[in-house]
Amino acid sequence: SVIQTIFSRPSTFDAIMGMYTLDDMAGLHPQQIWVNVEFDGFYRDHNLDIEDYLLKLPKDYPIAYISSPDISFLKSIGGKLKGRAKLILRCLADNVTETSVKKSYGEILKDLKSVKAFASGIMVPRNYVWPVNNNLYLLPPTSLVKDAHALGLEVHVGSFANDILTSYNYSYDPAAEYLQFINNPDFTVDGLMTDFPPTASGAVGKHCELFHVEKAKCIFG
Ligand SMILES: *[C@@H]1O[C@H](CO)[C@@H](O)[C@H](O)[C@H]1NC(C)=O
Ligand SMILES: *[C@@H]1O[C@H](CO)[C@@H](O)[C@H](O)[C@H]1NC(C)=O
Repeated sequence: SVIQTIFSRPSTFDAIMGMYTLDDMAGLHPQQIWVNVEFDGFYRDHNLDIEDYLLKLPKDYPIAYISSPDISFLKSIGGKLKGRAKLILRCLADNVTETSVKKSYGEILKDLKSVKAFASGIMVPRNYVWPVNNNLYLLPPTSLVKDAHALGLEVHVGSFANDILTSYNYSYDPAAEYLQFINNPDFTVDGLMTDFPPTASGAVGKHCELFHVEKAKCIFG
């Protein structure tokens, strides 16, 4: 799989797979389910109480993670979940302002201790860990993963896709990019979120083979 130069996705696959509901997902009996609540305020505007919905889900739904960019939502549901799922702060671009604390996500992550008070981890765009310069060459990694791990926070990285422009250091190989996050001497992130799971899973599988890591330890997120 090689990065394409036309940055649009064909509509060919649109009707093949419908939108899955949470109940559909649970029906597939996965080991774990991760629920992302992008904007609690959107649901409230439509008179829907997402917190109530999540708290009333059948107890056998294996909800392992709940993520949201909304700190007030995470704090509120955290008080009621009684540890039933891990809460993850999903950070948007570092110059975007989080609506409840009115600070940018970049600023919020400068105080990881305050994040630890209400979340088990963070999910960040790729450039928070491996920034690129204006010419799309990789810069040295930030200390974010190490700093977060030192506090016991999980770090998940999102925004991967095979068909977006990425750093030239990966030589147009999306698998090389995933490996950069899990196979480097200094850190390994706890999870990868991607629009192309088979590529990520292939890269992680290859990593396990190469480094004789037990498969069980190679299941991310
Ligand atoms: C954030 O930065 C991006 C890239 O530099 C820019 O395009 C965007 O307008 C900025 N957004 C805000 C909210 O400042
Ligand atoms: C990315 O590639 C450039 C050009 O070869 C190199 O100077 C730089 O060190 C590379 N970055 C990383 C993090 O390896």
